[in-house]
Amino acid sequence: MTNSVQEELATTMKGRDFLMLQDYTPQEIRYLIDLAIDLKQKQKAGVEHHVLKGKTLGMIFEKSSTRTRVSFEVGMYQLGGQALFLSRNDLQIGRGETVWDTAQTLSRYLDGIMIRTFAHRNVIELARGATVPVINGLTDLSHPCQALADYQTILEHKGRLEGLKIAYVGDGNNMVHSLLMGAAKLGLHMSVATPEGYEPDADVIRQTQETAAGTGSRIHVCRDPREAVADADVVYTDVWASMGFEAEQKERELAFASYQVNDELMKGAKKDYLFMHCLPAHRGEEVSEGVIDGNHSIIFDQAENRLHAQKAIMAAIM
Ligand code: CP
Ligand code: NVA
Repeated sequence: MTNSVQEELATTMKGRDFLMLQDYTPQEIRYLIDLAIDLKQKQKAGVEHHVLKGKTLGMIFEKSSTRTRVSFEVGMYQLGGQALFLSRNDLQIGRGETVWDTAQTLSRYLDGIMIRTFAHRNVIELARGATVPVINGLTDLSHPCQALADYQTILEHKGRLEGLKIAYVGDGNNMVHSLLMGAAKLGLHMSVATPEGYEPDADVIRQTQETAAGTGSRIHVCRDPREAVADADVVYTDVWASMGFEAEQKERELAFASYQVNDELMKGAKKDYLFMHCLPAHRGEEVSEGVIDGNHSIIFDQAENRLHAQKAIMAAIM
């Protein structure tokens, strides 16, 4: 990417929301990954990069979090700004104040809002009401910050993205939706294996396949985990019961019993495959201890890159 393209993107991305990878071009996503790598190097070298000096991010959490909360808060601090943790229990939204009024009010104090919630429409409504950029920190539909950090992590380990094959085994949830769109935008091939009734959202698959047609990426959804992981460069899984679905834990354990990522399944992947998981993980369920704690696993590089990728998002749009 030339310097003039980078300068143009630095201007055109200001003020935008970061709700779905669908909303960003392949070039913009690649720009964010490159910026994340640059900010990571600066942080490690001790080079000050207070590009958000004096700015404040509000972080609304309606679900639990370890990585998202800490990485956004620390990220704002490292960029010279500050972050406010706003739990649903403490906000008037928990007592019935509308999302619109909350968005309008918070926009008078804050320079950006991050929200983690259940229904994706709440994030869209918040973004409509807010006059400052809104960042999706996970909904039932998607987790774009995690996917951005994951593609940064794959690039750092493999030296390229285009043409690699990523396999996802397990629940067709928010995580796989964002990974699918990222793969299609960035030119990776992706195979997804889920049990019947737990497929990714049909609209997301359609959008992903349309995008893939323009980038040369191939998207494949199937039942058989062995088919999905065949010759994969990256194998990804996530919990069987996401936040909000805990009541279905027992029935899901039955449905997903043959979908565990373990050494036996990994015999079909490339010899130098990477194992990835967004965390938190349930060892002995979606992944065996041997795989998640083995030498193909890069789960903590992923977790670290949440910090750098989100700093890039905030620096670009706020
Ligand atoms: N991966 C992820 O978003 O982790 P947290 O739920 O801990 O934020
Ligand atoms: N799919 C998981 C991701 C957690 C980061 C969930 O929504 O609970």
